[in-house]
Amino acid sequence: MENDALLSWIEADIASCRCGVPEFPVTTMTRTLWSGIKAIAKLLDRPKAALDAGSGSGAHSFLLASLGVENVQGLERCGEAVACAKDRANRLHAALPDAANWAWPQFIQGCVEAVPRNSELLDQFDIMTMNPPAFYTPTKIDISRPLDSGLYTGNPPTPAEPDPANPINDFFRIAVSQRLAPGGIAICTWPGIQARQVTDGTASKLHPAQILMRRFNWQIEGADSVLAEDFYRFSSKLAYNDSPGNGFRRYTHLCLEDGKYHSYVQRSDPEHQHQPTFAFGVLAIRRDTHVPDLFHLIDINLQT
Ligand SMILES: C[S@@+](CC[C@H](N)C(=O)[O-])C[C@H]1O[C@@H](n2cnc3c(N)ncnc32)[C@H](O)[C@@H]1O
Repeated sequence: MENDALLSWIEADIASCRCGVPEFPVTTMTRTLWSGIKAIAKLLDRPKAALDAGSGSGAHSFLLASLGVENVQGLERCGEAVACAKDRANRLHAALPDAANWAWPQFIQGCVEAVPRNSELLDQFDIMTMNPPAFYTPTKIDISRPLDSGLYTGNPPTPAEPDPANPINDFFRIAVSQRLAPGGIAICTWPGIQARQVTDGTASKLHPAQILMRRFNWQIEGADSVLAEDFYRFSSKLAYNDSPGNGFRRYTHLCLEDGKYHSYVQRSDPEHQHQPTFAFGVLAIRRDTHVPDLFHLIDINLQT
């Protein structure tokens, strides 16, 4: 089966709500990361191990398995989401004859801040991927609900503060730093939603690779000559998750007024029938094969 048909199968399976709880759906960011993973897999010589951090529905774990990666680990903080992904694996196995030939992904509950080290997990990964949640949480976050866990991070005390709970930082600072193999590639979506994630507290927009260099004192070859404007080239409609008492819409607008959200979040985007949208990009960096603290920025040149 072609990868894109696999994604359609997964999307329909999530929509059927067979797990009994609303899951994080296949979004524009899920799709764009999907294309990015296909692109980077071609740059690697038979990648053996991959970590799909924040695996949610399992979409990217299944993609990696279908691409022939032998050891795929989905790591997810929400236990319900892990259960849904495992159920999905069983249905997929029954529904798709090709899937019988894959090395089956494993889904485990855990956090990107502390990728478990145990006999089931390899120590190093050739591919590490994440599509992180990005919205501040309007009410107390309930990460036992897959949909909420997929949307929300935490709440910084002031607009100027970084979000202490933002998992994208820990994905790079801890998981990638400790577990990406020499020559391996880390790829993630980077939403232009939280102001600090776009500017890092400076007066201008920064390319995410420049932010990683500032925050973690990393060397990323190629990062000095790139522009944030060129990075945020994808756009996603903002679907409000307004369950009763949740207040997402109201809170998102408040965050915009307070400057917590970047102007890349638009309440009314003329290019999308005046619907609310936000911009995002896909960041891919490759660890040097000899120098562990050196990374190389990869332009995967994705098209929409
Ligand atoms: C935006 S959703 C993406 C789901 C799926 N990978 C996709 O692209 O459709 C983010 C996922 O990351 C999970 N998550 C958030 N913070 C996490 C953390 N610190 N460690 C592990 N998983 C986390 C959420 O529960 C959610 O499933």
